Amino acid sequence: MITVTPKADSSKVQMLAAVPIFAPLGEKALGRIAGDAQERKFTAGEKLVSKGEKGMGFFLLLDGQVEVRTGSTVLARLGPAQFFGEMALLDEQPRTADVVATTPGRCLVVSRWEFWGYLSKEPEMIRLLFQETVRRLRTPGGGFSE
Ligand code: CMP
Repeated sequence: MITVTPKADSSKVQMLAAVPIFAPLGEKALGRIAGDAQERKFTAGEKLVSKGEKGMGFFLLLDGQVEVRTGSTVLARLGPAQFFGEMALLDEQPRTADVVATTPGRCLVVSRWEFWGYLSKEPEMIRLLFQETVRRLRTPGGGFSE
């Protein structure tokens, strides 16, 4: 069993285990995902995802904060152990929003084909992913309130 506390200096495996959609996976699978994923550093103001683009990756924040925006509307603010970039991978349609860093930070980027590989082996991961995606879409204001 992995003890989980999302914080800036957590190992990648610990951080993955802190994310509900990855929690059902065993330590071995989490280690493989952590090894496959690319770590990306970002600076404040950097656009990590652009609305309308083709989705090539799924992002998990290790540290730092991002905003999900469409035009001047902020749909959500996300921080460590939260993910983004799942929607365009799920329906193979363009990105639904911009995702812009508001602080410096780091994220793990899982490629589209790796993402589908994990989902095809883990039905519980699919359920949890859809649960969170529907929650985001269902909540008035896109799940964001000030
Ligand atoms: P995707 O469409 O691939 O790229 C933009 C991402 O922003 C999207 O996946 C989600 O991860 C995220 N996103 C879009 N709308 C919302 C929302 N209402 N609440 C939280 N995150 C969102």
